[in-house]
Amino acid sequence: MTAKFITLEGMDGAGKSTHIPTIIEMLKAHGREVVSTREPGGTPLGERLRELLLHEAMHAETETLLMFAARREHIANVIVPALARGAYVLSDRFTDATFAYQSGAKGVPADKIEILEQWVQEGLQPDLTLLFDVPVEVSIARLAGARSPDKFERESVDFFTKIRNAYLERASKNPQRFRVIDASKSLEEVAEMVKYIIATI
Ligand SMILES: Nc1ncnc2c1ncn2[C@@H]1O[C@H](COP(=O)(O)OP(=O)(O)OP(=O)(O)O)[C@@H](O)[C@H]1O
Ligand SMILES: [Mg+2]
Repeated sequence: MTAKFITLEGMDGAGKSTHIPTIIEMLKAHGREVVSTREPGGTPLGERLRELLLHEAMHAETETLLMFAARREHIANVIVPALARGAYVLSDRFTDATFAYQSGAKGVPADKIEILEQWVQEGLQPDLTLLFDVPVEVSIARLAGARSPDKFERESVDFFTKIRNAYLERASKNPQRFRVIDASKSLEEVAEMVKYIIATI
């Protein structure tokens, strides 16, 4: 196994969080430390920024800047130290989500996000990104049964369609890093696909 920094991406309700325990278990079976974290968040300050990001109305570029502020903390205090000591890092969302949500759906120019990406990440990129892809109706139906919606989850079908398309476009442009999972299948089938991918990295 060479992939150390693994990110999970996909729309709200796609199933990212559901499969994290399985992935942790598989990585631990290789005898390594696993740091499971999430964005926005992953640090005490990042979690406070997450609260603002998920519940306060703000300009899309303010949102982008706060995402990267939280990401700076996350990279400096969690991700880089963990990778440096040889741990696997599993992050529930990372920068692909900023491209999908703030650029794809909310119209922030991608080149502005690329500037922040270079500034904040200094070349750090995930080794592997699992994209949980579901049709918009599936995402909405799953969320309806799950919990009370945050700011993003109250958006329209058009908004979610733009997110899905932005994610798929990023996957097709970075095929060496992305694995696209058909997450509309049953929980068991998706779990099998996740296990297969993790076993073959
Ligand atoms: N393959 C599946 N089939 C049926 N239901 C599923 C499947 N995957 C996940 N679910 C259900 O859909 C809901 C959302 O799943 P989950 O919380 O894992 O999504 P998520 O991608 O983490 O979403 P968010 O981005 O909002 O955190 C949960 O109730 C979960 O049990
Ligand atoms: Mg989740």
